[in-house]
Amino acid sequence: MSAAMAAEPLVVEQLALAFGGVRVLQDIALELRAGEITGLIGPNGAGKTSFFNCLTGLYAPQQGRIRLGGLQLERVPPAGRAALGFSRSFQHVALCPELSVVENVMIGLDRQSRAGWLDAFLPLPRGRAERAANRERALAALSRVGLAEVADRSPTELPPGVLRLTEIARAIVGAPRVLLLDEPAAGLNSVETRDLADALKRLRAPELVLVVVEHDMDLIMEVCDTIHVLNVGRLLASGTPAAVRANPEVVRVYLGDDDD
Ligand SMILES: Nc1ncnc2c1ncn2[C@@H]1O[C@H](COP(=O)(O)OP(=O)(O)OP(=O)(O)O)[C@@H](O)[C@H]1O
Ligand SMILES: [Mg+2]
Repeated sequence: MSAAMAAEPLVVEQLALAFGGVRVLQDIALELRAGEITGLIGPNGAGKTSFFNCLTGLYAPQQGRIRLGGLQLERVPPAGRAALGFSRSFQHVALCPELSVVENVMIGLDRQSRAGWLDAFLPLPRGRAERAANRERALAALSRVGLAEVADRSPTELPPGVLRLTEIARAIVGAPRVLLLDEPAAGLNSVETRDLADALKRLRAPELVLVVVEHDMDLIMEVCDTIHVLNVGRLLASGTPAAVRANPEVVRVYLGDDDD
């Protein structure tokens, strides 16, 4: 991957999504830049998760264009987008309780594994070599989020903050170009949120488009370079944290009624 190609933005134009007669997203146009942390905020039901689903190909928007650098993505199915470097975490924790932390992270290498996920866990020579290599990559990803020491623990015995960071490690282990995190701070206490903020800042990289959906405004304002505000399916505002915080429209529809 060339440096020029690596720094290419994810560009969305005139995106529209509806279910039946219900308009979920309308006229969404924005540029998600590599090298930044981009925040996507908005009230419940604004369309944030649906927007992520359109980017990853899970939802098929009725209208609009999605482009990663020079690559037009509308016709690329979810698996193809994953192969191009799209990765995400989900709104609810989704780790496999039977696997250790590091094995859960290794699942993030599934789409790249030559032998396949099952082979990687079988005691065959080929599977063993690949499993060892994948384990090394998974340990490196865990280190990046500060979790090296819990690699061989079970998710069932670990607190929510560690599980969230494990999911992020799984999302980054394949070296994505686009990383979409859906409410990573949900359910975390203030100490865990602090660790998450530190981990997010360490993930910022010149070649990575990193987008965070979050309701925790302190976290968003601290870590983001650019923030986009969605309200009932429309883009209400975009700008720096300071500009968004000072935007009267944003305060009225969103920040104003979020003082609990
Ligand atoms: N598969 C679907 N079928 C029908 N309606 C859907 C579907 N997915 C999302 N919606 C609707 O789209 C709207 C936006 O939902 P979405 O989950 O994207 O909001 P959100 O901004 O992520 O909210 P939250 O902050 O609560 O997670 C909601 O009205 C939701 O009911
Ligand atoms: Mg959501």
